[in-house]
Amino acid sequence: MKIAIKSFKCTDADVTIIPVFEGKLETPNEEITKTLTRLESRGQFKGEFLEVVNFTRNVENNLKDVIVIGIGKEEDVTKEKVRKIYGKVQKKANELKTKKVFIRAIDTNIISLEDIIKASVEGFVLASYKFDKYKSDKKENIEFEISIGGKHIGDDKINELEGYLQEAKSLAEATIIARDLVNEPSNVIYPETLAEKVETLGNEYGFEVQVFEKDQIEELGMKAFLEVARGSKKKPKLIVMRYFGDKENEDKRLGLVGKGLTYDSGGYSLKPNDGMVTMKSDMGGAAAVIGTMVATVKNKLKKNVIAVVAACENMISGDAYKPGDIIGSMAGKTIEVLNTDAEGRLTLVDAVTYIIEKEKVSEVVDIATLTGAVLVALGATTTGVVTNNCEFYGDLDKASKISGEPVWMLPAFEEYKNLIKGEIADLKNIGGKHAGTVTAGLFIGEFVGDKPWLHLDIAGTAWADAVGEYNIKGGTGTGVRTLYELAKIR
Ligand code: BES
Ligand code: MN
Ligand code: ZN
Repeated sequence: MKIAIKSFKCTDADVTIIPVFEGKLETPNEEITKTLTRLESRGQFKGEFLEVVNFTRNVENNLKDVIVIGIGKEEDVTKEKVRKIYGKVQKKANELKTKKVFIRAIDTNIISLEDIIKASVEGFVLASYKFDKYKSDKKENIEFEISIGGKHIGDDKINELEGYLQEAKSLAEATIIARDLVNEPSNVIYPETLAEKVETLGNEYGFEVQVFEKDQIEELGMKAFLEVARGSKKKPKLIVMRYFGDKENEDKRLGLVGKGLTYDSGGYSLKPNDGMVTMKSDMGGAAAVIGTMVATVKNKLKKNVIAVVAACENMISGDAYKPGDIIGSMAGKTIEVLNTDAEGRLTLVDAVTYIIEKEKVSEVVDIATLTGAVLVALGATTTGVVTNNCEFYGDLDKASKISGEPVWMLPAFEEYKNLIKGEIADLKNIGGKHAGTVTAGLFIGEFVGDKPWLHLDIAGTAWADAVGEYNIKGGTGTGVRTLYELAKIR
């Protein structure tokens, strides 16, 4: 998709996109304004949020399309609404089969012009995503050529805005990489193919990739990770990605750990079928950190970012780990496995130990589709967070407000830690039926020492059960844009 900032006058577009505020249906073009007034008087268009109409105009003997999209009341406009608006616009433009699109940027003082451009591009590009490669009757993707302009965008601003536009485009594209990884089934994406995919991305975008094989993982002593992996014929891989964009501050390293269960059957604590069908998405955290690496490198952030994925499958076999087993870990702590379906935290604690001890990161974020309980607590829109550092959380909160991916901090009081103390080992891998997201997070917290740490539970947000304005049903790619913004802030 080609997208560029253009000055207002020069457009040979097939379709012009005009956003209008509710109760303020004026446009720079008198004929269009009259049409809208007419539609309004008949009660056919008011400019309500996401309301859309299109019509054809004859411009110097050429038929041109116009799409008018409602923004809603000006005082209520938000960046997230702008993303949704342009998601809707993308679908309409797709329907009309128009190739050259001119987008008139929303003109308001409530959101900065940079943010309007960024949100518009994100919404449009994200909405263009489909996952139909396995369909025999694939629909061709329209190769849109988009220009964005407006009377309020002067020639002097074009270069600066172009930078914001390209950043937004790259973030949407990195999110799409994550969506694809999540949507691929587990017979296509398993530890080995995931590692290969990351190597390809590393070569393409320019970050370092190291893949540890099973014997090397054994040498590292990642016992908890290996226990989860042992039920599967597919060998585990430890995938490490490194990018040093700030060599002068070598010691400052943001560590990202993504849960990489390419499939989670539950193991001997077997999931019911309904719970199992979407478990190819149990590597949504891995997809998020991989996408974040791509975005970070593409935008040449002056930061050091290291990402780790302990990739494996949670399966059943004569050699799989069992409820009641006591296992070790890279950090030396022993763990009672009371439920083999609480596997993510076992892989994560070793990945966290690895990234702190071997990659010497100064702070850690782990991101994981960890608990069904987070859906109960926060629903499918908000990522639950557990942390040991409020200042770090403050930066995450800022990043989330930029990306539009909501996060919410859960309590992490001492009392909760008692719930995961082991009876005959140091820890147990489940904390009982209450506060499941908190105890899962705190289990990982037992392995971070004094490093600033954030735990993002994306079990509710990594997968959408329904189509949205700019997402399809399936992988959302959540986390990519937020973690990129977090890396930028830190
Ligand atoms: N991968 C699941 C969590 C999950 C659930 C992700 C729903 C996406 C949607 C995780 O490994 C799991 O099975 N968690 C258990 C923990 C329980 C056994 C303490 C859960 O949430 O039921
Ligand atoms: Mn599980
Ligand atoms: Zn899982």
